[in-house]
Amino acid sequence: MSSARLIDGKAISAQIHSETQAHVRTLQEKYGVTPGITFVRVGDDPASQAYVRMKGVKAAELGIRSDTIVLDAATPQAELLALIEKLNGDSAVHGILVQAPLPKQIKEDEIFSAIDPRKDVDGFHPINVGKLLLGQNPMFKPCTPAGVHELLIRCGVPLSGAEVVILGRGNIVGKPMAAILLQKDKHADATVTLLHSRSKNIAEHCRRADILIAAMGQALFVKADMVKPGAVVIDVGVNRVDDATAKNGYRLVGDVDFAAVSQVAGAITPNPGGVGPMTIAMLLSNTARAAEAALSL
Ligand code: GUN
Repeated sequence: MSSARLIDGKAISAQIHSETQAHVRTLQEKYGVTPGITFVRVGDDPASQAYVRMKGVKAAELGIRSDTIVLDAATPQAELLALIEKLNGDSAVHGILVQAPLPKQIKEDEIFSAIDPRKDVDGFHPINVGKLLLGQNPMFKPCTPAGVHELLIRCGVPLSGAEVVILGRGNIVGKPMAAILLQKDKHADATVTLLHSRSKNIAEHCRRADILIAAMGQALFVKADMVKPGAVVIDVGVNRVDDATAKNGYRLVGDVDFAAVSQVAGAITPNPGGVGPMTIAMLLSNTARAAEAALSL
């Protein structure tokens, strides 16, 4: 079997970044506005630290101002809510991102619901999620599934009538991914199956997929015999596995066994370098759009 075409998330995210950069420049030149995003991190989860740092570096490259507020792991929910209230009222802050996962004393859904939907660049506010599901053109869509959608569109993967199988029903990826692809829309119209931890016959479902999207957070779960020859495989997973030979004692692997699956698939995302950079690209694109929308408030 020949090797799959690589879906280059780095190259496609670079295109989106240059579109965002042009948008930012226009906002500055025409209106004197610099888009701004505030990241909020609670605790010292190393993965969250790395993600927020990467988002901040990219924002700066595009001319987007960013601040990072770090709160202690024991911060009570009320304190985080008060901070969000303050950021909601700050006209220099166009986007607010509270990095998940949050410590267990904090109710994530209440936090996401407290963010002004017009600053909800993560797309997690119930208004934006509800509009997404209803096909009512939400102002923001969750960045990772929106990034996967953009990858599929820009790579010319046919979506109308395609059999899409999504592994994972999380609120950040699986559920909104399904909502995006099942819409009546020229860039969607797929037949979507969403599998989860209680699903039966998982391999059988996967083998029917024209497009298989793995977002369940289990290292190397998708094997070659679960993939239809020629299928498009998208790996959203980021999992730590122990590796005594690595300098920090672990390495990161996706939900897809890339070495084996790339021999069967028609196209596949590398990991890293596939979905990850697209999440950041969608976030910063959302931030520029939030700044533009704030002009007419
Ligand atoms: N944790 C993992 N992915 C995301 C994301 O897209 N946004 C936020 N806020 N937290 C995350």
